Amino acid sequence: MVLMRILGIETSCDETGISILEFKNNQCKILANLVYSQIKVHQPYGGVVPNLAKREHQKNLIPMLQLALKEARLEKNKRKNQKIKLPASKIQVLENLLLKDEILKQNLLSFFQTIDKPKIDLIAVTKGPGLAPALWPGVNCARALSYFWHIPLLGINHLEAHILSNWLPKEKNQWTTLQITQNLFPATDLIISGGHTQLVLIKKIGCYRLIGETRDDAAGECFDKTARLLGLSYPGGPAIAAEAKKTKKLPPSSFSISLPRPMINQKNYDFSFAGLKTAVLYLVEDLKKQKVSLNLIRPFLAAEIQNSINEVLVSKTIRLAKNFHTKTIIAAGGVAANEALCELLQQEAAKKLPGIKVIIPAKQYTGDNAAMIALTAYFHQKQPIHWEKLKADPNLKL
Ligand code: KG4
Ligand code: ZN
Repeated sequence: MVLMRILGIETSCDETGISILEFKNNQCKILANLVYSQIKVHQPYGGVVPNLAKREHQKNLIPMLQLALKEARLEKNKRKNQKIKLPASKIQVLENLLLKDEILKQNLLSFFQTIDKPKIDLIAVTKGPGLAPALWPGVNCARALSYFWHIPLLGINHLEAHILSNWLPKEKNQWTTLQITQNLFPATDLIISGGHTQLVLIKKIGCYRLIGETRDDAAGECFDKTARLLGLSYPGGPAIAAEAKKTKKLPPSSFSISLPRPMINQKNYDFSFAGLKTAVLYLVEDLKKQKVSLNLIRPFLAAEIQNSINEVLVSKTIRLAKNFHTKTIIAAGGVAANEALCELLQQEAAKKLPGIKVIIPAKQYTGDNAAMIALTAYFHQKQPIHWEKLKADPNLKL
């Protein structure tokens, strides 16, 4: 069976990802998987600043690609002194393609002068959904590589990639069989990230039906916004989870902290988290009026916020799995890193749906990464797109 190498590129939000995966006989091997988190850049602003994200992606994509090629031992004929002369016609095409990505253009032009075409069979890049200024540098970088090296190109849906991240090999450089068999389906999928909260019915890979979604804020967004109200730093999810853990070490609170579980009893599969954020705001103000120290009460507030979000997510997921008789529940996205959520999901599934399989991504793949983009491309390898036609689509649906 032929060996296939896919280069993955991810820039939908505040993580720059470059990954190279190898495939053979339904097996997958990670040759390189680099993620550069911009958290430090955005932290002072309390959230992601799109134009800063764009600048960071432009700066980091090519140095990361060089590193990834080196790790994957695909850096052929690297020249130190004698540079490759680029034809003027090719430079002109690249100039036009990268008109709005000056830093990336400079990096790419000097990169093409020092390295020969590597043995990559397909280039895959996140097309959407995501922040437009963040998506474009990734898309344009992939288009430029595809044009210059004559390598087929694919635009990938970031949400589908989060789903498939569940099957990424846990270790680097080890062949792992892709155990995505038809007996997992139909499956209930809970996609929970900074921008999305969706319940999806999966009939097979590539066949998705949106059943419910948030009507306002996403679960991750709610973690981020309520964390800010508690004086915790960005990203709020991990900060709230860490704070909530402290409740075990403190004496029981004498304050009654109770937050709503929005839409938990409604028979639909939609969510709404904006009201929870407002409830936290009022609660914090009320506590301030009562001269209660936020430092003292913060862990209990964090635990209650986490419980509220998790209970709603789990309750609706279990209901969907039950009503649609699915064989599997699959969690995906950044919020799936929340340990309390995963525990609750597993407990409730075992209690209410005995025999159902619960699949949770390995922690290192819950956040944005390019390995999941390359893996998704493997399943869609027969649908490449010409580099001139690929566009970022910030509102791309599953
Ligand atoms: O999937 P992701 O990395 O990026 C998007 O595509 O949005 O998700 C980021 C979100 C952020 O809102 C972050 O606060 C949340 O995932 N998150 C968590 C945890 N780790 C990250 N939320 C709850 N608990 C966590 N441990
Ligand atoms: Zn994501």
